Amino acid sequence: MNPTQQKILDLTALLNRYGYEYYTLDAPTVPDAEYDRLYRELEALEAAHPEFKQPDSPTLRVGGAPLDGFESVHHEVPMLSLSNAFSPQDDSGAFDHAEMYAFDERVRGGLGGTAPEYVIEPKFDGLAVSLLYRDGVLVRAATRGDGATGEDVTENVKTIRNVPLKLHRPSESALPELIEIRGEVLMLKADFAALNRRQLEHNQKPFANPRNAAAGSLRQLDSKITAQRKLHFFAYSIAQQTGGSACGTHMQELAYAAELGFSLPEGNYGCFQNIDGVLAFYEQMHAKRPDLPFEIDGMVVKVDSLAQQETLGFVSRAPRWAIAHKFPAEEALTVVEAIDVQIGRTGAVTPVARLHPVFVGGVTVTNATLHNQDEVARKDVRVGDTVVVRRAGDVIPEVVRVVLERRPMQILEHSSSDGLQEDLFGAADSAERPSENRTVPLYPPYRLPETCPICASPIEREEGEAVARCSGGMLCEAQRAQGLIHFASRKAMDIEGLGQKQIEQLVAQDLVRHFADLYRLDIPTLQKMKENAEMPSDASTMLSTSTSAALSAGISTTLSAGTSDGQNKKMPTKWAQNILDGIEASKQPDLARFLFALGIRHVGERTAKVLAQAFGSLENVRRAPEPALACLPDIGAVVARSIAHFFAQDAQQAMIDELLAAGVSPKNQAVTLPLAQYLTPEKWLSRLPGFKISENKAAALWDLAGKNIEGLINDNALPADWQAWRKISGNLSLLTAMQQFLAQMPSESDTMSSDGLNAAVAGKTFVLTGTLPTLKRDEAQAMIEAVGGKVSGSVSKKTDYVVAGEAAGSKLEKAQTLGVAVLDEQALLDLLNK
Ligand code: IVH
Repeated sequence: MNPTQQKILDLTALLNRYGYEYYTLDAPTVPDAEYDRLYRELEALEAAHPEFKQPDSPTLRVGGAPLDGFESVHHEVPMLSLSNAFSPQDDSGAFDHAEMYAFDERVRGGLGGTAPEYVIEPKFDGLAVSLLYRDGVLVRAATRGDGATGEDVTENVKTIRNVPLKLHRPSESALPELIEIRGEVLMLKADFAALNRRQLEHNQKPFANPRNAAAGSLRQLDSKITAQRKLHFFAYSIAQQTGGSACGTHMQELAYAAELGFSLPEGNYGCFQNIDGVLAFYEQMHAKRPDLPFEIDGMVVKVDSLAQQETLGFVSRAPRWAIAHKFPAEEALTVVEAIDVQIGRTGAVTPVARLHPVFVGGVTVTNATLHNQDEVARKDVRVGDTVVVRRAGDVIPEVVRVVLERRPMQILEHSSSDGLQEDLFGAADSAERPSENRTVPLYPPYRLPETCPICASPIEREEGEAVARCSGGMLCEAQRAQGLIHFASRKAMDIEGLGQKQIEQLVAQDLVRHFADLYRLDIPTLQKMKENAEMPSDASTMLSTSTSAALSAGISTTLSAGTSDGQNKKMPTKWAQNILDGIEASKQPDLARFLFALGIRHVGERTAKVLAQAFGSLENVRRAPEPALACLPDIGAVVARSIAHFFAQDAQQAMIDELLAAGVSPKNQAVTLPLAQYLTPEKWLSRLPGFKISENKAAALWDLAGKNIEGLINDNALPADWQAWRKISGNLSLLTAMQQFLAQMPSESDTMSSDGLNAAVAGKTFVLTGTLPTLKRDEAQAMIEAVGGKVSGSVSKKTDYVVAGEAAGSKLEKAQTLGVAVLDEQALLDLLNK
């Protein structure tokens, strides 16, 4: 054989083995980089010698030319459906398996009294697909269609990584000449979530569920799109076969399919000698369902022996030897008893439907989120409505839609003056009445309240935002407790010993209102908190706070009051001292943690870090004007406005002053972002609130103003739109603030060693590769350069450090070969902060 041909054959086989280990066995044996390297090698060889390309080449998995339409495929062996059985649950969660016992009776009857063995396997919630292999090669893949005729989706199915393009040779026998494997194409829950995240990022509509996503992905005329969606295939039967080993049971068929290279739902199927074993397994799977990596809507129970299957045969379009044992519906009907709102930590107002208790997907649901005002309006959910409630996995139950036919109505009697509330009836009734047009809903459309039910502050909704918010901030008890919990949390001030429960008690008893109050706590106050918490009269106050917090987390909890433990008898105040020690130890936080702890809207850990790196000190952050904030990497207009708005509030500044007065002193840090590069006039001028211009126009304006802010403020020869903007209240003072800020702009030398360089980094050469967990590549580069390091594109002996993130490829390998030091992001940050 020609050596190139041999090389192509070897690479194809090797890559297919690695792919199988990765996608089917979930046990990769080589690093991704090695796979990628071999893959590229094969790609190049195939490009040079297309005549040697194998029918099972992994390069076929990227998709081919788009089709005009799908060809029809006739199913020689029809693809039938299954009849269903349900096992309703009672309030204790116990199942009633009567329908399954009836199935077992029917089967045994059909077998003349013989008791069969049963296989039970997941009922995958995807799409049925038939795969035809001739001489071991995948030649056709088809959807189920109407069972007799489906669509040819071969090109698309070839992109599914765990579908073998060529069957593995079974150990005992020859490959079958022809075999038709059937199974389900689906999308794993994790891949579905990632896909929807991408859809949203690209302003595209998210898919409703993994099933729809799988269907949409499989039925693409352009298989290159399918290739980008991660689909999965599980085999569940052999529909026809010539040659190869003959199977006598369904379990043997499954084992044979696995030998040929297919995935089975490992650990989630089994064979039992009687129906009771099957039912016990069903109940286990029901409990396990939320944790499975894919969606299932029940289990399928099949008679194991193929001979017995044949004896039993079919009735209309479904086998007598199998049944879909569905899980209890995760949707249920119930009535909305009230709609009220819940206030989140950031003041977000979420309308919540209080429901007549209903059992859905294994739990009793009494609340369901209505998300926001727009959602309530879209679904038109009103008090008294019968609604469909859905509980998907462990997510917060939601109202899916209203059953309008059951909306309570009233007749408006034109003749009578007292008018209202004559009658209550459903729409079905009203249709039969002559004066249909005089019936109106009993309850009006829902509207959010105008004031916060907790603190009575106005509820506000920013333009373009779906979410309305309570404007009370730390004045609002709901936000106060949650704001303090956030403040004390591990990634914020990290106050050890001060947990959610203590904070809720402190707030409920009004012992703590603001952050600074924490630093004034003493042992007597903490003791009082505990005593009150143990008194029943206070339990109810606490319950309300703790439930509101729990509700916003989408869970229901029961309050366990008090924190008494045996230790307290010996040292009655040790627990309190521990809390005080934790509080004391939190007094010198890193600047970024402190900023994050303040709970400024839109300021997460990452933004807090950028602020700290750009400004170095709390004082600088506090006085940074909005346009300066908007110039920083990763901070857009909305975030900049939110930060500026926070620090513009006297109450917030006072709160920070109080914290400082109470002894909290955030650490200053090195300014590692090159501010001068970010804060150029054209940049900040193009980011002024309410004055939308491009950076080019901003540069021209700057020139016109004589390249100084004085000119921008006073020059009356500047363009009219600028002069108009300048007249708007607050804008001149914004310019003055910018002027002052720029004059004292924190510079890299502010908080660094005298020469402004970091000795560990200065003069060193770095190469960045792969995706770092939080930093973008240009940010990492900017940070390295800011302290005197160099960033290069390729690894050589002269490279000092390779910074490797996820999916780092050949550069990392080269670094390892050359013995160059490899850093992860944290190690880089540590080095930069030296
Ligand atoms: S066997 C004649 N096994 O259920 C029996 N079907 O209602 C044919 N399904 O369209 C099907 N998981 O998509 C079988 N483990 C499983 C299944 C399964 C899901 C789907 C299949 C089919 C539908 C039949």
